[in-house]
Amino acid sequence: MQVGEVRKLTTLLEVSQALSNAIDLKPGLHRVLESLERHHGVLRSAVTLLQEDGGDIAIEAALGVDAAGARARFRVGEGITGKVVATGKSIVVPQVSKEPAFLHRLASRRDREISFVSVPIILDRRTVGALSVDLPWKRDLDFERTVKFLRVVASMIGQALKVHRLVAAERQRLVDENQSLRRELKERYEYANIVGGSGPMRQVFEQIAQVAQGGTTVLVRGESGTGKELIAHAIHYNSPRAQRPFVRVSCAALPETLIESELFGHEKGAFTGAHARKKGRFELAEGGTLFLDEIGELTLSTQVKLLRVLQEREFERLGGTETLKTNVRLLAATNRDVEKAIAAASFREDLYYRLNVFTIFVPPLRDRKPDVMQLADHFLARYAREHGKRIKRISTPAIDMLVSYHWPGNVRELENAIERAVVVCDGTVLHAHHLPPALQTAEASGTNPNGSLEESITAYEKSLIQDALKTTRGNRAKAARLLQTTERILGYKVQKYGIDCGRFRA
Ligand SMILES: Nc1ncnc2c1ncn2[C@@H]1O[C@H](COP(=O)(O)OP(=O)(O)O)[C@@H](O)[C@H]1O
Ligand SMILES: [Mg+2]
Repeated sequence: MQVGEVRKLTTLLEVSQALSNAIDLKPGLHRVLESLERHHGVLRSAVTLLQEDGGDIAIEAALGVDAAGARARFRVGEGITGKVVATGKSIVVPQVSKEPAFLHRLASRRDREISFVSVPIILDRRTVGALSVDLPWKRDLDFERTVKFLRVVASMIGQALKVHRLVAAERQRLVDENQSLRRELKERYEYANIVGGSGPMRQVFEQIAQVAQGGTTVLVRGESGTGKELIAHAIHYNSPRAQRPFVRVSCAALPETLIESELFGHEKGAFTGAHARKKGRFELAEGGTLFLDEIGELTLSTQVKLLRVLQEREFERLGGTETLKTNVRLLAATNRDVEKAIAAASFREDLYYRLNVFTIFVPPLRDRKPDVMQLADHFLARYAREHGKRIKRISTPAIDMLVSYHWPGNVRELENAIERAVVVCDGTVLHAHHLPPALQTAEASGTNPNGSLEESITAYEKSLIQDALKTTRGNRAKAARLLQTTERILGYKVQKYGIDCGRFRA
């Protein structure tokens, strides 16, 4: 192999290494030019690129060019480089001094006789720039081979540019998505979206406002579905940490070993299956808020570890020795009777005192009847929009049903009931029969405990039959199967209770 070939291969190897970092292209391009200088005696060189924002060409990297030259911008078609970009064809000026029309913006000194070569940089069959070099003039320079070699370098730059732009586009997409998600989250958890004008809820709002700004640990207590998570979100998004992450961990969802690695992370090899280091939620929430949902479900040994983090503000990853400092605000929620759990020794009292700095009690929905209608309207508007329905209002009998029901599942159950009703409703008014069976049988299901056992059972039986007939659209045979009875017995009861099967056929 000739000496020249070895130099070329060395250069190409260096070029490919220089361009392998897709995050930051500029230093890589600079190293490419240095390589050309080192191995091929290039005097001045530049990579010029068509700017993505318009028709201008600007220098992306240059060597041996003064600062003013490096800032130069020119138009496609202007000058030699401009022509290369415009036509996609290489240009060679063997002897610059013999070319009076030569507009050489990169050269500041003319102390030596030089040759100029510019080759196109191509990306997806489009010329997007040029690689240009000044070489010392030599009588016997083989320009064909020089151009060929530079075109190989330029094609590698084109490839790197492609990867770089894809990565940049993807990153921009992620940034945009992240911003819009944050905006959406913030909107969703603004006070305005927590509905409730009842006395107890107004008190809850006041407590959120009192506690959000500080860094106090807050324990949110209330039955399942009362809005504890919503309140935790509201505290975070109205706190100085709003721009930082909100991270939720459900303490009930995972077994003990997993929950600890979930909270504190683990090192590679900490346990079977720990193939790589993993950050825990404490680390992910750094600077933000960590919400420990259903904290009453934590085992005693995890409680001990958590307590230590709360006291010392530091922890180790599972299987790790490095001690990590943490700056997170802690919010916790539970639907458990914590005092009882302490008495039964299933919840540590010292942890409870750490969490119980500020407690918000969210009352069950049955204790804030005024909120029921407000919430129902709120969910009606939301789900009608979501499902593209034109439902305007809720009928009076349906309102009565909603208000008299005892809502064991609280707001979550109400939300589900309204969404379901919206789905089955085809008109502009939401009627009682659109509501779920549990509400239809409200009177029999304990909300109205007046009356004898026999009356209650009768009412319950009647409503069960009505539900089944509704499900089967009035088909008695199917309803009988559903209730695991015979058609004959069902027929008898339909008659006894005076149920009109035709009503369900619509
Ligand atoms: N006051 C409220 N206003 C609007 N939506 C609410 C309200 N309270 C609860 N919700 C909704 O009810 C559902 C259950 O609330 P969530 O916060 O998950 O309850 P919990 O954590 O107490 O089980 C969620 O969809 C939530 O958005
Ligand atoms: Mg919850």
